[in-house]
This record gives sequence, C-alpha cells and structure tokens, in this order.
Amino acid sequence: MEEMRDPRLGTVRLFLKHDDNKARKLKYNLGHPRVLSFGGAHSGHLRALARAGMEHGFETIGVVRGEERLPLNPSLAYAKACGMRLTYLDRAAYRLKHTAPVLDGLRERFGDVAILPEGGSNAAAVRGCAELPGEIDVDYDLICCPVGTGGTLAGIAAGLPEGKRALGFAVLKGAAFLADEVARLQREAYGEVSGNWDLDLDYHFGGYAKLSPSLDPAFEQVYVAKMIYGIVDRARQGAFAPGTRVVAVVTGQPSTPVASWGAPTGFDSGDPR
Ligand SMILES: Cc1ncc(COP(=O)(O)O)c(C=O)c1O
Repeated sequence: MEEMRDPRLGTVRLFLKHDDNKARKLKYNLGHPRVLSFGGAHSGHLRALARAGMEHGFETIGVVRGEERLPLNPSLAYAKACGMRLTYLDRAAYRLKHTAPVLDGLRERFGDVAILPEGGSNAAAVRGCAELPGEIDVDYDLICCPVGTGGTLAGIAAGLPEGKRALGFAVLKGAAFLADEVARLQREAYGEVSGNWDLDLDYHFGGYAKLSPSLDPAFEQVYVAKMIYGIVDRARQGAFAPGTRVVAVVTGQPSTPVASWGAPTGFDSGDPR
C-alpha cells in the first residue's frame, strides 16, 4: 500500500490499495463446468472470466455487445486465446440481455450453463469483494472505489468493520439507479442493506469510457483515474473531516497493456486469432 501525496489533499491522507476486483467477483462464482457472461468489446470482466476458465478447466462463453469485428481487438483476442467462445448480441438485444427471452435463447443454444450478469456482479461476487477490507493493513476511516455495475462497492461496504464508511465514484453518466443496484446486490447477498456507503455521481466526465485531459495518466482511465480525481476534488472542497484517512481501491492498471493480462498458455502474440 502506498500513500499518494498531493497538496490539494490538505490534511486528508490518501492510501492506494492495488486490488483485482474482477478476480474477487469470480471467486465464489466458479464451480460450474460451463460459464457464460456478458460484456462490451473491451470488457475486463470477460477477460478475467476467460482466464479463470483456462486456469481452472471450465468452459467459458462471452456474449459481446455489438457486431463482430475482425480482426478481434486485443481484449477479445486474449479472451479467445484463453479458450472463450465468443458470440455477439446487437445493441438492442444486448439491452435486453438479462430478460427471460434472451436468457432462454442462450440456454437453448449453449445448454447447461451458469450465467453471470454483466460485470460479474451478483450475490456471490458481493461476498468475494466483502473480503477486501480484511486485507487492508493501514488504519483508515473511508474506503473509496470506482463503480461500474455496483458489485464491488456493495461487497466492500458489506465487509467493512464498524465505524468505517465506503464511498463509490460512478463512472457512468446518469447513474442514480446504481444506488438501488448496490442496495439490491447487498440484499441478495446478505438479506439486508448496510447503511455505511454513499455514491458520488459527479465524476463521470461525460459518461462511461469518456476521457478527459484532467484525468491523471498515471492511473487506468475508465475507472481509477475518475475516482482519484473525485477524491482529490472532494478533499479540496473540504468534504472530508480534517485528518480523514482514505483508502482508494485501485482496480486497474494504466492503459492495460496486453502484456499485463499475462499471456495464456499457447498464446502467440503474433497470432491474429
Ligand atoms: C478496473 C475496474 N474497476 C472498477 C470496476 C467497477 O466494478 P463494479 O462493476 O463492481 O462496480 C470495474 C468493472 O468491473 C473494473 O473493470
């Protein structure tokens, strides 16, 4: 864990915890011989699922939003090289991906299959993320994470010791619905909603994957840099009590170079699969 120093923080102290939330979300979701999930063409969740399938010996199917584009981008090429079968839903059908007709169609096509929602956020994922606070070894008051589908925040908050709070920074525009989603996920996992979290909706920078020169290039841009910007800006505004110790969960690496995903066995980076 490293401390980030920035004069704009004033008396607030900010510690960075690097953590792979995607692996945590999968941990209690594994066990079925065939697992299907959904994601965009750059989905880190699909990459993580494909890799887990390769490592643990189960089949994986990735349902990708939009049309197939060849050659595959590096993210999907990696998933495929890990053994993931890729299939596509046009944007209209993708919006309905969690409805019975689409799910029934996928089950008909792929047989007996465990289906994980987009981003892998379900009750089991929440329980996996709830283990994160137990691994923090500095004293802190507030833990912050970026929010895409809400599973990470739901879990982290549920796993917090008494007296500490969680604050999620939404990376999507118009994401007020995410508060209901985080609450639903906690209820599904534990039967109740913990009252120890908040959602900040003001740092989406125009929407999901919309970037800005204001974002610090030292951080992964889609999720992490927006959260870091939000924390520093809120500190500058005096939103945190003097001396507040904040842990920021750094869930991704800058520019996610292909090499950082680790080459799957048998993967030849010159092979345009
Ligand atoms: C790098 C990174 N950070 C944060 C998140 C947000 O997690 P969640 O979808 O659980 O809100 C994601 C999405 O999985 C992610 O890929």
